[in-house]
Amino acid sequence: MAARRATTALALAFFVFTPTSASADSAALQELLEDVLHFIPESAANSAELPRRNPPQRQSKIDHVVVLYMENHAADNFFGCMDLPGFDGIRGHRIPADPADPSKGFINITCGAAPYVCTQGPGYATFNGKFAKDGNPHKYPYSQQSDGYSAWWGAAENGTAVTMFAPEQVPVKAAIAQNFGVFNKLFTAVPSASSPNHLFTQSATSCGMTSNVLWKQCGGNGTYFPQPTIYDSLRLHNVSFSFFMNSTCGLDGKPCHGEDPHDPDAGSAISTPDVAMIGVARHKDRFMSQEIFYQQAANGTLPALSWVLPPIQACDHPCHDIAKGERLLKDVYEAVRAGPGWNRTLLFVAYDDAGGYYDHVVPPSEGVPADNSSCVIPGSHPDCGPEFDFRRLGLRTTAMLISPWVAKGAVYQEPKRGPTNTSQFELTSVPATIKNLFNLSFFLTQRDAWAGSFDELLLEVPRSDTPLHLPDAPLPASPWTPPPPRVPADTATVVTPQHCSSWHGQAEAQCRGLTHANLKQQRNIRLLADMLDIPVPDVSKMDYFAANAWLRSRWRLWMKGSSTSVPQDVEIV
Ligand SMILES: *[C@@H]1O[C@H](CO)[C@@H](O)[C@H](O)[C@H]1NC(C)=O
Ligand SMILES: *[C@@H]1O[C@H](CO)[C@@H](O)[C@H](O)[C@H]1NC(C)=O
Ligand SMILES: *[C@@H]1O[C@H](CO)[C@@H](O)[C@H](O)[C@H]1NC(C)=O
Ligand SMILES: *[C@@H]1O[C@H](CO)[C@@H](O)[C@H](O)[C@H]1NC(C)=O
Ligand SMILES: *[C@@H]1O[C@H](CO)[C@@H](O)[C@H](O)[C@H]1NC(C)=O
Ligand SMILES: *[C@@H]1O[C@H](CO)[C@@H](O)[C@H](O)[C@H]1NC(C)=O
Ligand SMILES: *[C@@H]1O[C@H](CO)[C@@H](O)[C@H](O)[C@H]1NC(C)=O
Ligand SMILES: *[C@@H]1O[C@H](CO)[C@@H](O)[C@H](O)[C@H]1NC(C)=O
Ligand SMILES: *[C@@H]1O[C@H](CO)[C@@H](O)[C@H](O)[C@H]1NC(C)=O
Ligand SMILES: *[C@@H]1O[C@H](CO)[C@@H](O)[C@H](O)[C@H]1NC(C)=O
Repeated sequence: MAARRATTALALAFFVFTPTSASADSAALQELLEDVLHFIPESAANSAELPRRNPPQRQSKIDHVVVLYMENHAADNFFGCMDLPGFDGIRGHRIPADPADPSKGFINITCGAAPYVCTQGPGYATFNGKFAKDGNPHKYPYSQQSDGYSAWWGAAENGTAVTMFAPEQVPVKAAIAQNFGVFNKLFTAVPSASSPNHLFTQSATSCGMTSNVLWKQCGGNGTYFPQPTIYDSLRLHNVSFSFFMNSTCGLDGKPCHGEDPHDPDAGSAISTPDVAMIGVARHKDRFMSQEIFYQQAANGTLPALSWVLPPIQACDHPCHDIAKGERLLKDVYEAVRAGPGWNRTLLFVAYDDAGGYYDHVVPPSEGVPADNSSCVIPGSHPDCGPEFDFRRLGLRTTAMLISPWVAKGAVYQEPKRGPTNTSQFELTSVPATIKNLFNLSFFLTQRDAWAGSFDELLLEVPRSDTPLHLPDAPLPASPWTPPPPRVPADTATVVTPQHCSSWHGQAEAQCRGLTHANLKQQRNIRLLADMLDIPVPDVSKMDYFAANAWLRSRWRLWMKGSSTSVPQDVEIV
């Protein structure tokens, strides 16, 4: 890569909060408010009262919301075989192999044979899954959906999509289900992959995106998705929050050595699509390492909202080790349980999408509001994903609600208190719940205003029988502190669990091993190059290690900068 001096200043209004001076802080807050008012009607935002000096008054139950945002598991995959009362499970379920021809028999769902570390991502289509082959899944009114059509969309592909975990394989999740709440009906916000769902979960829109792309590919004119996030709202209301990452790279005032032994992917500490939102990127002063999370949990000083990004090797994305995801859940739970803030804590664990796993429940489409955020650029944008009006939800996803304020062994159905008669729990319930619990003055879009809110699930008095400890997690297939991953000299065999996606098709899939930069690395490289206004390197020539090294050094540069422009005296190599 040629060295280059970056000189370009940034067009997009961008600032990072610096706690150094009160007046700089209040100027930044005014600027943030103006940005937000491009998207939120002034009346709704009650802008006369914003930004606030003191947080609004709020309910007296919850001071700390912790969101552990995991990757890629439909609800049936983890909870379908647990026989939980009230949970629409999957034991004994089967799908006609060909809905037009009963003689072709059935695809049987199995319980208990799911691999902890898969070799290839499962292939069940998240977008079309329940539609007839010639059906219309994109525009309201959609075609009728039926589970009977499921086989057409990859349900049987190599078995893993229909191979579910038995409770004894996931003892930590099973213990959570026994002791706290599990959602029978919590749907993904978009019937698609990670990026659009990450955006909905944090900003209640995906700006028209229906696949894993950046805003420019959806007709946008800037590097960052421009819409306000729940963090922007918290900031304007002076309610505290932090992002906790599994890295110290550039965080907590630490140098970015990028050699966190726990995480070979530490270089991409916060990945697309989250940092691709300006409403995340501008809060980089709130990016912290997970070490701080554990310390603050222990001393009761967690912020009002903790957004916990799992270590990539424990994020449960295929094909990382599910045993490590179990261990992470145990660690996060036991950390908040043991801390002095436990009695005022609500821990929500959700998976961002169904992840190529089959789920048998037909997702609802009645009454779901269209995405009318003004970051949606009208027209057709071929690289943005299928054109879609967002008036239906995606497959059920795995989700748990954990707190002394939730009933033991609860299984949640549809919301009982609306706010409308078609409201559902879905990933956009996250910003809705945060808005309601912290009494923020505005919803982000009409979608979070519609989604069910978890505050209706809280008990009147907290329980005192919550366990201090959860069962041990299964043993991982490789240690938590792995040696640097290696490619055997004679083959491209994957030697460490890879980030294996299903939906790009096998030809481009990431499971080609460490001799290639994977799709996620490639996307992160494009984003960071854009964020720094530097040329995109030729990713086709990069292997996994080169891609990681590139990301690590550029992430460090970006974390160092007080804006998105590269300091002029920095040599990029
Ligand atoms: C993008 O377009 C909007 C609306 O037309 C405009 O306000 C904004 O300045 C543009 N941003 C950039 C980076 O050009
Ligand atoms: C936010 O509230 C804290 C007290 O909770 C106060 O010290 C701080 O100055 C406030 N920030 C702003 C920007 O008003
Ligand atoms: C929410 O804040 C408003 C003022 O903005 C206040 O009147 C109301 O009582 C608060 N609600 C709760 C539940 O504290
Ligand atoms: C599914 O199960 C049925 C009965 O339990 C069995 O007859 C059939 O062969 C199974 N199908 C497959 C594809 O394994
Ligand atoms: C299924 O397995 C076959 C044979 O191993 C392989 O060629 C194909 O790519 C796999 N498909 C998926 C979606 O994993
Ligand atoms: C990364 O995660 C591992 C496992 O949870 C933990 O032991 C380690 O301290 C974390 N590191 C940072 C810097 O967050
Ligand atoms: C709690 O832990 C944080 C993170 O280590 C530290 O900054 C803070 O001073 C501690 N607070 C108390 C009251 O011990
Ligand atoms: C939490 O509440 C329970 C039951 O009310 C009480 O026994 C316990 O001491 C409280 N724990 C803390 C850390 O305040
Ligand atoms: C979206 O639609 C709602 C309800 O019709 C309306 O109140 C809101 O102003 C619209 N927002 C935008 C940005 O068009
Ligand atoms: C929901 O309420 C609207 C009117 O507000 C009504 O037209 C509709 O039939 C109701 N739907 C259901 C499912 O109750």
